[in-house]
Amino acid sequence: MTQNMTPRIYARILGTGSYLPANKVTNADITEKLAKDGIETSDEWIFSRSGISARHFAADGELTSDLALKAAERAIEAAGIDANDLDLIILATSTPDNLGGFPSSACVLQDKLKINNGCAAFDVQAVCSGFAYSLAVADNFIRSGMYQKILIVGAETFSRILNFKDRGTCVLFGDGAGAVVIGASDEPGILATAMHADGSHRDILCVPGRADNGALEGSAFLTMDGQAVFKLAVKVLEQVAQEVLEKANMKPENIDWLIPHQANIRIMEGTAKKLGIGLDHVVVTVQDHGNTSAASIPLALDTAIRSGQVKRGQHLLMEGVGGGFTWAAALVRY
Ligand code: UT7
Repeated sequence: MTQNMTPRIYARILGTGSYLPANKVTNADITEKLAKDGIETSDEWIFSRSGISARHFAADGELTSDLALKAAERAIEAAGIDANDLDLIILATSTPDNLGGFPSSACVLQDKLKINNGCAAFDVQAVCSGFAYSLAVADNFIRSGMYQKILIVGAETFSRILNFKDRGTCVLFGDGAGAVVIGASDEPGILATAMHADGSHRDILCVPGRADNGALEGSAFLTMDGQAVFKLAVKVLEQVAQEVLEKANMKPENIDWLIPHQANIRIMEGTAKKLGIGLDHVVVTVQDHGNTSAASIPLALDTAIRSGQVKRGQHLLMEGVGGGFTWAAALVRY
């Protein structure tokens, strides 16, 4: 067979799943919690500035890999495969089970899924862009022919790194997990991906502390310059969306659903407006789970698929932006 006659391999989404911890914390709940420390906030402020009404917090002892397990089991079931069919597990997280991030939470997840086929497993650390980064990584493994079935999970327990004395951040984030199984196909699935980083902006969204001589040096809490992140986010999200559209030779009007990182409704609206995509074509779930970092896109995707909003054959533009600074996008035919 000549090069031209070799069938192209694509990566397609076979199934999705998601999970939110049982403890739902409304804006009223968090307002009451902060008031006990004399810190003022309100449902009105949180909802009008971010679009968030509630978030979920993991129970004591409930780890990122536990959330990931529930989402992964649902995605594997939806894909109609056995967990031992997987060739690779990628877990996007900034809140791994263990300090220092090892063993990787992907390895912990592999064990919790009772996979004994020796498949590869690693974490991707790109903060809120982690899921979009992972889609790009997995797509390349599939298109190269190296792997046939890959589990990608975005899972976070940000509640553990929130400073409840900092009202500018603690009201925004939540815990959760979303997962997809992608598989090799001769039918187009992932059409284009792009990922970027600019480390010169690393201080505007970070956890500044580090382990030193067995102790914590600095703060283990998330810190953020919200306005700086906001401005950069709207700019790079439009750029990276245009980049994948050009790569796939498509236009914004070809997009059935924009599924952005769920951080702030105003960022989502701003990006959609710049792209000329109507708000009725944007999947929005931020009101129910707040900013779940790497979990937010697969949570939104799974919610939209299970509610019947997203249908097979539709074109989806997923994009994320986060600490690092990182940003990435994937254009997918579902
Ligand atoms: O996932 C990674 C990406 N992260 C993001 O995308 C987050 C991006 N940034 C944002 O979403 C927004 O910047 C925020 C939602 C974080 C903040 O919205 P903002 O409109 O930029 O508000 P601000 O930071 O300019 O604060 C406005 C006011 C300040 O008071 P003064 O200085 O005007 O008196 C804040 O102290 O709101 C005050 N404020 C609050 N008030 C009540 C800040 N946090 C709160 C709060 N409740 N929780």
